[in-house]
Amino acid sequence: MEFLLKVENLTVGYSEDIEILHDVSISVGPGRITGMIGLNGAGKTTLIKSIYGFLKPKKGRVLLDDRDITGTDPHSLIHKGLWYLPQDSGLFPYLSVEDHLRIPIRPLRLSNAEQKRRLSEVLEQFPALAAKRRKKAGDLSGGQQKMLECAMAMMVRPRLLFIDEPTVGLAPKIAVEMYERIQRFWEDGTTIFMIDHNVRQLIEMSGYIYVMSLGRITSEGPQEKFRGELKEQVRHWLGL
Ligand SMILES: Nc1ncnc2c1ncn2[C@@H]1O[C@H](COP(=O)(O)OP(=O)(O)OP(=O)(O)O)[C@@H](O)[C@H]1O
Ligand SMILES: [Mg+2]
Repeated sequence: MEFLLKVENLTVGYSEDIEILHDVSISVGPGRITGMIGLNGAGKTTLIKSIYGFLKPKKGRVLLDDRDITGTDPHSLIHKGLWYLPQDSGLFPYLSVEDHLRIPIRPLRLSNAEQKRRLSEVLEQFPALAAKRRKKAGDLSGGQQKMLECAMAMMVRPRLLFIDEPTVGLAPKIAVEMYERIQRFWEDGTTIFMIDHNVRQLIEMSGYIYVMSLGRITSEGPQEKFRGELKEQVRHWLGL
């Protein structure tokens, strides 16, 4: 299979003696949404953190376009077209909306004209943020904060976007908007790796799906394999 990102036999832990991920291998095909489901504490976020350079794997490698990027720091990965929408807010409460939008593109050293162009393009897509562009992020509603994170990702125009639990804690209406935004990233050609507790939604959106249990991949396959009698199957995949 053709792939953009490939993770090979990754073993990862937060301390010397305890391993959280055991021999994890996944592939993310270009131009598609690849999804991952799994119980709390399975290691899903840990996987993204170790791909994105926040954690150094003990074993295994991460390949992007066939190049080894294992352990590359997050800052450098922005240059390679990667961006990460984290599970928990990564915003700075005292920085303005506009300042936040400038953060992700700082390492890219774009011309002033290009920075301005992207800023106005992105703000055009988020009227609520445009109206509050000089307000502090901490003064936005929860939904607006999530949209700001989404807008930051848009500033980068990533090739590959990691999305961790995009709608957790959001009001249903905002959750729907978030999924629509993700869909639009994909339509614009962004490759996506997404983790979501909303199993049905994830399966609906993903071309290929992985199930993680206790730090191992326990099931994988194309969307068709995961449709149908969800409840029983999911229990089975998760080893319940
Ligand atoms: N900073 C950390 N230091 C030590 N252990 C950690 C740390 N972060 C996570 N862990 C442990 O690693 C394991 C996997 O956590 P992780 O957050 O990757 O799970 P997850 O699948 O993303 O769960 P959730 O669905 O709740 O987000 C858990 O046992 C957790 O306690
Ligand atoms: Mg998580």
